[in-house]
Amino acid sequence: MPYDFDKIARTYDRLNRVMTLGLDRRWRKRAVKEVESGKWHPEGELNTMEKKNNAVKKVESVLDVACGTGDMAVSLAERGCTVTGIDLSEEMLAIAKRKVESGKWKVADAENLPFPDDSFDAVTCAFGVRNFVHLEQGLSEMLRVLKPGGRMVILELATPDSPLIRPFYNLYTEHIIPWLGSRIAGNREAYTYLPESIARFPKGESFLEIIQNSKFRIHNSCQRKLTFGVCRMYVINKEAAR
Ligand SMILES: C[S@@+](CC[C@H](N)C(=O)[O-])C[C@H]1O[C@@H](n2cnc3c(N)ncnc32)[C@H](O)[C@@H]1O
Repeated sequence: MPYDFDKIARTYDRLNRVMTLGLDRRWRKRAVKEVESGKWHPEGELNTMEKKNNAVKKVESVLDVACGTGDMAVSLAERGCTVTGIDLSEEMLAIAKRKVESGKWKVADAENLPFPDDSFDAVTCAFGVRNFVHLEQGLSEMLRVLKPGGRMVILELATPDSPLIRPFYNLYTEHIIPWLGSRIAGNREAYTYLPESIARFPKGESFLEIIQNSKFRIHNSCQRKLTFGVCRMYVINKEAAR
């Protein structure tokens, strides 16, 4: 069973800001930059002349999976994208709807997306994949609805590799975050689950391997560590049509 985010929807944004010291917004903006630079060309790789002539299509339609309270949608809409957001939690979506009135919002499961193949220029997911019950299925669905030549950008929290950072990270996630969770959201349990689920979740190459093993063809993929690797950004380009 996925965690029920309805319970923490009301305090979700405030707690996010406090818990990450405002970095979560910066991370999402960074992801949106990657979406924008992934201008796609439906017929495949661009040659140098086409690139010179800027014969690339602008990224317009973006699906934000597990959109929550819509913060990624806010950043995407600011850059002129048309955003569709899906989430399991009605309470989270209700907040998202108020933030981005132009967005299209739907209660839906990432593991069974209600859209035809090759629907969106780009797909994003911020801090959502860790909550999927069947990770491979969710990722495969996200790739299915992405247009050939399109880009998928995923943000996820991770345990930092550096032995210098680790003790601070452990102290913060094991003690301070659950305490903030109980003070701000009145829900210590949800925020005790957070560091545990981060530690269990595949990161880096292991995560990219799962995507590369999907039945959809990947042109290339890479990861970037943000803020000492506390957040990881994965950029995956779906192979263009032949
Ligand atoms: C940590 S929140 C992230 C929300 C938002 N993307 C953000 O950037 O703040 C995780 C969200 O994933 C949603 N979620 C979890 N499993 C899901 C699934 N299988 N399909 C759709 N949404 C899901 C939850 O309801 C929750 O809103």
